[in-house]
Amino acid sequence: MKTVYGLCLLVVCVVARQPNILFIVADDLGWNDIGFRNPDMITPNMDKLANQGVIFESAYVLPVCSPSRAAFMSGIYPFKSGLQHVVIQQRQNVCLPLDIKTLPQHMKQAGYSTHAIGKWHLGFCNLNCTPTYRGFDTFLGYYNAKEDYYTHKAGEFFDLHDDERAAVEYIGQYSAFFFADRAQQIIRKHDQQKPLFMYLAFQNPHGPVEVPKKYSDMYPHVMNQGRKILSGMVSILDEAIGNITQTLIDQGMYNDTLILLTADNGAEPINYGNNYPLRGTKHSLWEGGTRVTSFMAGVGLQQTGIKYTGLIHGVDWVPTLLGAAGVPQVSGIDGINHWDSIRRNLPSERREFIYNLDDFYIPTQGHAAIRVGDWKLILGYPGTFDGWYKPMNETEDTPFYEMTWAPGDKPARLFNIADDPYEYNDVASQNPDIVANLTDRINQYRRSMVPAMYPPDDPQADTIAKQNGNSWTSGWC
Ligand SMILES: *[C@@H]1O[C@H](CO)[C@@H](O)[C@H](O)[C@H]1NC(C)=O
Ligand SMILES: *[C@@H]1O[C@H](CO)[C@@H](O)[C@H](O)[C@H]1NC(C)=O
Ligand SMILES: *[C@@H]1O[C@H](CO)[C@@H](O)[C@H](O)[C@H]1NC(C)=O
Ligand SMILES: *[C@@H]1O[C@H](CO)[C@@H](O)[C@H](O)[C@H]1NC(C)=O
Repeated sequence: MKTVYGLCLLVVCVVARQPNILFIVADDLGWNDIGFRNPDMITPNMDKLANQGVIFESAYVLPVCSPSRAAFMSGIYPFKSGLQHVVIQQRQNVCLPLDIKTLPQHMKQAGYSTHAIGKWHLGFCNLNCTPTYRGFDTFLGYYNAKEDYYTHKAGEFFDLHDDERAAVEYIGQYSAFFFADRAQQIIRKHDQQKPLFMYLAFQNPHGPVEVPKKYSDMYPHVMNQGRKILSGMVSILDEAIGNITQTLIDQGMYNDTLILLTADNGAEPINYGNNYPLRGTKHSLWEGGTRVTSFMAGVGLQQTGIKYTGLIHGVDWVPTLLGAAGVPQVSGIDGINHWDSIRRNLPSERREFIYNLDDFYIPTQGHAAIRVGDWKLILGYPGTFDGWYKPMNETEDTPFYEMTWAPGDKPARLFNIADDPYEYNDVASQNPDIVANLTDRINQYRRSMVPAMYPPDDPQADTIAKQNGNSWTSGWC
């Protein structure tokens, strides 16, 4: 009797022990901008986590920021939430639709403490769009796409908020330091009776290309000044992650924590980031824009020190993290729970995904792309830029003006990603049947597409910002 009770107690105990989850997003981090792929990069902390965990070789996201983050928060393709076209602009009265339940809301419901640090970029025109109204207990970060690392000005106005308050005390400080510091404070103060969910969306290494000199000085062998700074921006991110990991260890929480890191899209070589040998850049449907640096480390993984080659899409992180947390799955989303496949290194259940589907501004910017098995079909404009760019090292910058598309073109491009991962050989003309088949499949998805939300600038945004000490503030939609 006693034994049975003990076992029950043990089961309850095991079930109740939910892992802490750290979901790290590195903004515009390139495929080739991490030490475990590129020995010129100095990222010992990320390398250690990745090498002791699982490196994702086929983890895909959307070609730009807001769509990817919408996928990370919702598990839904952005062409279904209206966020498929470019990114949310500063004065657009748009946000991730309020009827969509977010990842932190699910986590909170399952008993987690939930915290967001860093970039939001899923809308802020109404208070209900902002992180602390979308499932996070606390938020320290910015609403828009990018800003100065020190002044925290995004365009004309200040954009750094501690919950809803303008956090002017951080003016002059580089964001990686105080984002890491806030994460460490949250970990130290955390009540370990509860599991912790932290979404850490670092600013690094997105442009503007800025870093304290100490970090760019780590790259004396890089001749190109911009690339030197970009490399330092990745190394300061690495140091921040190392500091946070150390705090988890110091608090005795590391062994109960699962860490996921992903980029939100590929790097922008015009900002000195690098995706080589993948083709293309951020903003494009090429692999360089969409297949990203990503890894997982920590509790629950049974097969570690491996590269996981199965297909994963950004919409899959919601159900996969819910799986890791032992939280019931949600219906009506596009994501697939890969938790069991990842932790045991089993084949991915994902056979196909949509890279993006965007009919806005056809024919000048509309595009569609799909992956089915090894095949990838791109219809329309793949997005800039089209080439294969090696990391810059010479003093002169390389110009990036290659475009394989011209207005009026509506080409179909077909690649076999297993045979041709770097997209050198368009085999569309040899395979009209496959092009037709994948085009049909895209058209089936198109039936569930909603129009992109892309309204003109709302001048009310400025009025409200000016009324609030020249700080971007909610309350204009
Ligand atoms: C950059 O070029 C210099 C001079 O040619 C060379 O010594 C150095 O190894 C190169 N560095 C990288 C990162 O390629
Ligand atoms: C990491 O921690 C060290 C030691 O406290 C500190 O000097 C450094 O500034 C921190 N770096 C970041 C990026 O947070
Ligand atoms: C984590 O667990 C392992 C194996 O049980 C143990 O050796 C290690 O010391 C633990 N690490 C921390 C930081 O608690
Ligand atoms: C199209 O693809 C589907 C799914 O792979 C397959 O079942 C079907 O036979 C294909 N049709 C053609 C015409 O290739």
